[in-house]
Amino acid sequence: MWQRNAFTERLGLRYPIVQGPFGSGLSSLALLATVSEAGGLGSFGVQHLGPEQIRTLGAELRARTERPFNLNLWVSNHDDGGLTLSEAQFAQALARFAPYYAALGIEPPAMPARYGWRFEEQVEALLDVRPAVFSFVYGIPSASVLDACRARGIVTAGAVTTLDEALAMDAAGVDLIVASGMEAGGHRVSFQRSAEDSLTGTLALIPQIVDRVRAPVIAAGGIADGRGVAAALMLGAQGVQIGTAFLACEESGTTPLHREQLFSDAARYTALTRAFSGRLARGIHNEFVDDWRGRESEILPYPIQGWFAGGLRAAALEQKRPGLMSLWSGQAAPLLRHRRASELFSALVRETDAAFGRFVRSSTALDPSTHPEGESA
Ligand SMILES: Cc1cc2nc3c(=O)[nH]c(=O)nc-3n(C[C@H](O)[C@H](O)[C@H](O)COP(=O)(O)O)c2cc1C
Repeated sequence: MWQRNAFTERLGLRYPIVQGPFGSGLSSLALLATVSEAGGLGSFGVQHLGPEQIRTLGAELRARTERPFNLNLWVSNHDDGGLTLSEAQFAQALARFAPYYAALGIEPPAMPARYGWRFEEQVEALLDVRPAVFSFVYGIPSASVLDACRARGIVTAGAVTTLDEALAMDAAGVDLIVASGMEAGGHRVSFQRSAEDSLTGTLALIPQIVDRVRAPVIAAGGIADGRGVAAALMLGAQGVQIGTAFLACEESGTTPLHREQLFSDAARYTALTRAFSGRLARGIHNEFVDDWRGRESEILPYPIQGWFAGGLRAAALEQKRPGLMSLWSGQAAPLLRHRRASELFSALVRETDAAFGRFVRSSTALDPSTHPEGESA
């Protein structure tokens, strides 16, 4: 039975299917609850929330589902120079974005009090919420944070993009390893070599990690239907984490315009770019991606570039200018067929059953000992 293994047993899941967490407000209570109630693991990215907001969200989630769920943080959540800008640097950044303010007819923003939260502040609140799973990207939390999780019965899940990162995660005693192939939508969460130098595809990444680590491996990147789930499990993963296909469902926190783009031919072409946030991430190739090509040295550090680019979003949405906003997407977008999370989830289960059924039937057919014409074949 493909549904059951050490990963599902540990968490009491009916299926080894994780709805990938989304940061920046793109996760939702409804999406998490639908997936957790269906027997998978629903997730919520809280990287953009402050400690009090994380505690409030925790209470809302508990009111919504009694099933296990996953909360997600970014361990490294700012680059060098990404915490503050001097007034002169702020003015220079405004000048870089001036053509967009003019194109959208909006006022340039005022200097903010802060651009994002610190991991150390957020993780305390997350520990108080006590989710069944704490997943994280961009590094390994300190031993004291991992110990605190263990003491509270929180299962830890760390994302990796290379075998070296997986070995480091395993050595730190993290419970689950989320191996993210470069097909995935959103950020490339590499924490050892640069993201550009850590672009291994899912098909090659999963088995090399499975062969070398103790922790169960969850495969992420490029999986959008049951064939992909079955393939990842055949490679030795104990679970799959699916992002883009759930993001496209109406329960997710994204906008109708983004969803429309995900289901359109535009999503056949994705790009890896730092233009939307300051860190390398995959989204639909659009005008904004092209604008910053060749101007990479002008891109501000994470998360400040994201604060400026995100400031265009409301006007771009209102004016239906998808070319001027991030349209996160993985390479599997052309496989998308479902607009409701419950339908996507049951299709994934049905199709995975069918894929394994086909495999068993065809391998039985090829085995000379069971082939009706075996002797003569
Ligand atoms: C819009 C978007 C935001 C994401 N944000 C996060 C995040 O904050 N933390 C995280 O661990 N993964 C994040 N991811 C990665 C997903 O959880 C998942 O691993 C990935 O999308 C799987 O690849 P796929 O898109 O090909 O299905 C994000 C993905 C997308 C598309």
